[in-house]
Amino acid sequence: MSARTKKEIRRPRKLTDLPGVGPATAEKLAQAGYTSIAAIAVASPHEIAEATGLSENMARKIVVAARETLNLGFKTADIVYEERLKVGRITTGSKNLDRLLGGGVETKTITEFYGEFGTGKTQICHQLTVNVQLPKEKGGLNGKAIYIDTEGTFRPERIMAMAKAVGLDPRETLKNIIYARAYNRDHQMLIAERARELIEEEGNIRLLIVDSVMGHFRAEYPGREALAERQQKLNKHLHTLARIADVYDVAVVVTNQVMARPDVFWGDSVVAVGGHVLAHVPGSRVYLRKLKGNKRVARLVDSPYLPEGEVVFAITDEGIRDE
Ligand SMILES: Nc1ncnc2c1ncn2[C@@H]1O[C@H](COP(=O)(O)OP(=O)(O)O)[C@@H](O)[C@H]1O
Ligand SMILES: [Mg+2]
Repeated sequence: MSARTKKEIRRPRKLTDLPGVGPATAEKLAQAGYTSIAAIAVASPHEIAEATGLSENMARKIVVAARETLNLGFKTADIVYEERLKVGRITTGSKNLDRLLGGGVETKTITEFYGEFGTGKTQICHQLTVNVQLPKEKGGLNGKAIYIDTEGTFRPERIMAMAKAVGLDPRETLKNIIYARAYNRDHQMLIAERARELIEEEGNIRLLIVDSVMGHFRAEYPGREALAERQQKLNKHLHTLARIADVYDVAVVVTNQVMARPDVFWGDSVVAVGGHVLAHVPGSRVYLRKLKGNKRVARLVDSPYLPEGEVVFAITDEGIRDE
């Protein structure tokens, strides 16, 4: 591919640049949340038809055109490799934990931190929203963060302390974190969709946190009979998140609170939902457990390319650090 074509592909385009999409169709698409060619390219024709009222045939043509415009489809593995090299990484604050993750939390993917209450999931989320703002040479991405808080445990004071500890201005650091409290499952799904639009408008958002991703899904569907519906909604939500990661080069970090003995507490069917949140979306899972005092163990599970392993880190007043 010539340098020129590459440049053209990167240039943001309007929906009406797609063959067959006039202003009226573009409006319908935009109103259904498909505000960019990238968003259309990764959607299914069926889904677009449902959301816009366009015929499936029409929707298929638009999706194909969007994919061609973005040059999605087959490519040689060396190109895939080049793309992998461009993946961004955010330091966790602990060199050990970074090493476990292959150099930090990755963009274009979902990383799930799961473990019992008090294992440091929320502390890690806070730390990442600070560290993403650091320059590249300090382990950041010079970017902003979105924080979706489902449990009401976000604490700006904690952010300020962590910011100070890495030499950032605490007030400025807060300004680069866009916060939303999700009050129930549907609200959480809606906010994730809104986050996608925000990321498109704002540029420069490189981290999306959902702390915790499962709480509302568990709370609102206590019975077994609702399991299929819950799983379907959860899948939809996770796909929204996976898409945000992939299309906009964002690190998506989710937390998941689990019990020490899920077999006893949840019963078999619920474990399938709570225990394997990311089973069907690409990503890494990190299991956290407590050691003595402020020490914690992190174990990498199910990474698509890194070996399983365990490291120890610490939660300190300054944030996540090596022990
Ligand atoms: N300012 C701080 N200094 C040191 N440790 C802290 C501070 N704030 C919270 N912690 C520790 O972080 C732990 C809670 O971690 P948290 O991320 O809230 O757990 P989780 O989200 O997994 O339930 C507690 O052990 C608490 O002592
Ligand atoms: Mg928490």
